[in-house]
Amino acid sequence: MDDDRSKQTSKTDRRVATSGDIEVSTYLEIAKEIAGEQSAVAGEAAVGEEREAIVVIDFGSQYSMLITRRIRECQVYCEMVSYDTPWEKIAPLKPKGFVLSGGPASVYQDGAPVAPAYIYEKHLPILGICYGMQVITKQLGGQVAPGAKQEYGYAILHIGDVDSPLFDGMDSSIPVWMSHGDKIEEVPPGFTALAYTENSPVAVMGNGDGIFGIQFHPEVAHTPQGKTILANFVYRVCGCQGNWTIGSFIAESISRIQKQVGAGKVINALSGGVDSAVVASLIHRAIGDQLTCIYVNNGLLRREEVERTSNVFRNNLGMNIIYVDATERFLNRLRGVVDPEVKRKVIGEEFIAVFEEEASKIGTVDFLAQGTLYPDVIESASTGSTASAKIKTHHNVGGLPAKMRLSLIEPLRNLFKDEVRQVGLELGLPEEMVGRQPFPGPGLAIRIIGEVTEEKLEILRSADFIVMNEIKKAQLYSQLWQTFAVLTDVRSVGVMGDYRTYGYLVAIRAVTSEDAMTADWARLPYDLLARISNRIVNEVPGVNRVVYDITSKPPSTIEWE
Ligand code: XMP
Repeated sequence: MDDDRSKQTSKTDRRVATSGDIEVSTYLEIAKEIAGEQSAVAGEAAVGEEREAIVVIDFGSQYSMLITRRIRECQVYCEMVSYDTPWEKIAPLKPKGFVLSGGPASVYQDGAPVAPAYIYEKHLPILGICYGMQVITKQLGGQVAPGAKQEYGYAILHIGDVDSPLFDGMDSSIPVWMSHGDKIEEVPPGFTALAYTENSPVAVMGNGDGIFGIQFHPEVAHTPQGKTILANFVYRVCGCQGNWTIGSFIAESISRIQKQVGAGKVINALSGGVDSAVVASLIHRAIGDQLTCIYVNNGLLRREEVERTSNVFRNNLGMNIIYVDATERFLNRLRGVVDPEVKRKVIGEEFIAVFEEEASKIGTVDFLAQGTLYPDVIESASTGSTASAKIKTHHNVGGLPAKMRLSLIEPLRNLFKDEVRQVGLELGLPEEMVGRQPFPGPGLAIRIIGEVTEEKLEILRSADFIVMNEIKKAQLYSQLWQTFAVLTDVRSVGVMGDYRTYGYLVAIRAVTSEDAMTADWARLPYDLLARISNRIVNEVPGVNRVVYDITSKPPSTIEWE
C-alpha cells in the first residue's frame, strides 16, 4: 500500500505548521433527500449521540462489501461480519437491522451456511439479498427450489401498486440485476410475495414485521434504483436517522483516541502516502504534541518527493516531524541485490532499524499509529487458513517491530479508501495529498530491474518525472490508479543525429483499477504516449527507447518486480 514506504538515516529536523478546514460534501443525494425528510440532524451527528449501525451478515458474495459501502453512503454506519460471528462481537454496535448478503452456496447443499439464531431472536428488521433471501425462506419454513433456468443479468421487476416501505418513491416496474440459480417456491408462513420478474414469481417477499427478502442485487450499479431500496430499508424499515458523517466520524475518533492515549506518547511513520498522512492529522487533532511522526527518506523516492511531503506537513500541519535522510544506508545495503524479494526484505529490515533508532531518541513511547484500512481488516479476517501462493511480499515495510512492544492505534481500520480521503480533506490536508496515486514501500527499487545504483535511480527519476508531468498536464492523473516508468536492464541500439547509441529501455506503465487486486492497462491517447516517449528520449541521457506495457493484471502484476 502507499503508506508503508521505507527510508533512512542520520539528520533530524523538526517541522511545524497549521491546519485549515476544507468542507466536503460526501454522500449520495438520494440518501440526503430521504435523511432530510426523516431527521433534522441528518448530516451532522453530534458527539455523544447514539451511533446507528446496520450489520451485513456475509455469506461470501463478491458484492457483500459493496452492500456495506452503499449503506454507509446513506449516512448510516455499517459493518460486515461473517455469518458465523457470535452475537457478543456484534452487540457493541447496537445494530438497528441486519442485511443477509448473497453467496455462492445453495441452501440445500450439505453444510450450506445459514444465519445465526440471534438474527431472528432480536426482532430487528432483516433484509435478505439473493442467497440471504433463500436462507430466510429455508430457516423460517418456506421452500427453495433449484431454478429450472439460471437467471443472470437484467430483469424487469414488477412491483405494481404494492404498498411496502421498501418500494417507497419507486416506479411500478424497474430494471434489476439478477444472479441466481435457486428460487423461492413457497414463501415462509406469514410472508407474502411483493414483486416478481419473468423467471422469479417471488422476486421480493415480506412479512409485514420488518423481514424482507429480495432475489436481485440492489447494491450493484446495474440496479439503478437499488440505492433507493437500501435507503428505504435503513430509514423507513429500520428507522435510522442517517447521522453518520465524516464529521461525526472525526469527532468520535478524536474522543476515542484521547481516551485511549491519555497522557501517553504516540509515534507514526509518515510516508507521503494518503493513509499515514490522514492517520497523523487525525491523531494530531486529538492529542497535539503527544504525537511524533518519523519521516524516513530511503533514497528510493521520486524527484521532489521529500520537498513536496515536507511542505505539506510544514505548511499545513503543526506537527512534530523527525525527518531522517538514510539514503546512503539503504543504497549500501542494496548493493549487488537483484532479486525483487531480497530487495523488499533488505529495505524492510533497514526501515525498521532506522525507525527504531529514531523512536528510541524520543524517550518512552507508548503507541504506534498505523493506517490500516477496512478492506485489509476484512481480508485478514476472511483469509482464514486458506493457503495462497506468495506472489510478492507487499506489506513487509513499516511493520511493528515486535520488541518495541507498543500498543497499536489504527483509527482508520473501519474506513474505505475514499472515506479516508474525505477525512483527510475535512482535516485540512490539501487535495493534492489526499488524491495521490499509491506508491510502493520499496519505492523505485522495484521499478529498476536488476541492481539499484545511483546512476539508474537518477535515470528513472528523470523519466518518472516526465511521465507524471505529462499525465497531469493531460488531466488524467486522478482517473488512473497508477502511472510510472520502469527502468529495464535491457539496452538496445539506436541512432541519434548521425551516431549510434546503445542505451537503456524504459517502459511506461499506466493502469486503471479499483483496488489493485486486478488492473487493466490504460488506453492512453497515442499523442500523449508520443509526447512522453519523445521527451524521455530527448531529455533523459542514457535512454534511447521507450515501450508501453499493454498487459493487464492478471496475468501480469502492476509493478514489474
Ligand atoms: P502488484 O505489483 O502486486 O501491486 O500488482 C499491487 C499494488 O501494490 C503496490 N505494491 C507494493 N506496495 N510494498 C508496498 O507498499 C510493496 O512491496 C509493493 N509491491 C507492490 C503496487 O504499487 C500496486 O499499487
